[in-house]
Formats: sequence, structure tokens, C-alpha cells
Amino acid sequence: MLRLAIASDHGGFNLKAEIFDALTKWGFVVEDLGTHSTASCDYPDYAHLMAHTILDGRADLGVLVCGSGVGMSIAANKHPGIRAAVVSDPYSARKCREHNHANILCLGERVLGSGLALVCVRAWLDAVPDPDPRHVRRIAMIEPGKRAT
Ligand code: RB5
Repeated sequence: MLRLAIASDHGGFNLKAEIFDALTKWGFVVEDLGTHSTASCDYPDYAHLMAHTILDGRADLGVLVCGSGVGMSIAANKHPGIRAAVVSDPYSARKCREHNHANILCLGERVLGSGLALVCVRAWLDAVPDPDPRHVRRIAMIEPGKRAT
């Protein structure tokens, strides 16, 4: 069973709570890394905490929520080995896991209603990373300094 983590800033707090409840209902074990209120806070703190949680092996996949999803994705993607995709439709949610092996899904509470957000989360979790060598090669090439072979 996948080990999941979820985090948000204040701008994503309410959607995080709805996603946490859905993930629990779907039978996943989820660690809530915060924030724990709508008090103003800084999204990079939670993006970096999530990145470390995944890179240290304490979770397999993570969901990050902020107002737009964008700040979280920019910050999380500073970490080599993190592939954070901000999505607002189920096709991109599925493809970012199949083709890009995205290990973090970023969502915007001010962009998506909770219904569509949950459809995106479910599409991402149900997708299977495609092991085709062309995808594996391209994913390796994402890291700075890697070239096509
Ligand atoms: C907070 O107001 C907002 O800037 C943040 O949640 C996020 O959207 C940043 O990308």
C-alpha cells in the first residue's frame, strides 16, 4: 500500500482537509504534515518538508495544496528527485504519473472545486508509472547535468 503525505499553506488548508478525508475514506494511510489552521504561513516551508519526507523514504507520494498550486510546485521542484506537477484536470493528473512519474501532486484551492480536485487526486493515484525506457530516460534527463544517452 502506498504511503501518502499531504501538506498545505493557509491558502490550501480547507482543500487539504477535504482531500485528507477522502484519502482516508479510500483506505490510504496519510500523514498530515500541516499547516493546521488558516493562519498565514509560508508555502515553501511545507513544500520543502514534503520533499524531505519523500526523499527520506517516509512517504511514497505527496499532495501539496496552496492557493494556486504553483508556489508549492516551484519550491518542491528545487529538490533533485522530486517531480512535482501542478494540475487542474484529470488527464494531466494521470499523465504526470504515467509519463513523468510525478511523486508530488500540487493543487490550487483557489483554482479547483473540491469535486474536481478529488477526481484529479484519484486519477493520479490510480495511474501506474509507465516503465517504458523512453520515459525512464527522459525522467533521468530532468535532473541537472544529465544528458540524453
Ligand atoms: C498565499 O496567498 C498564496 O500566495 C499561496 O497559497 C500560493 O498560491 C502561492 O503560490
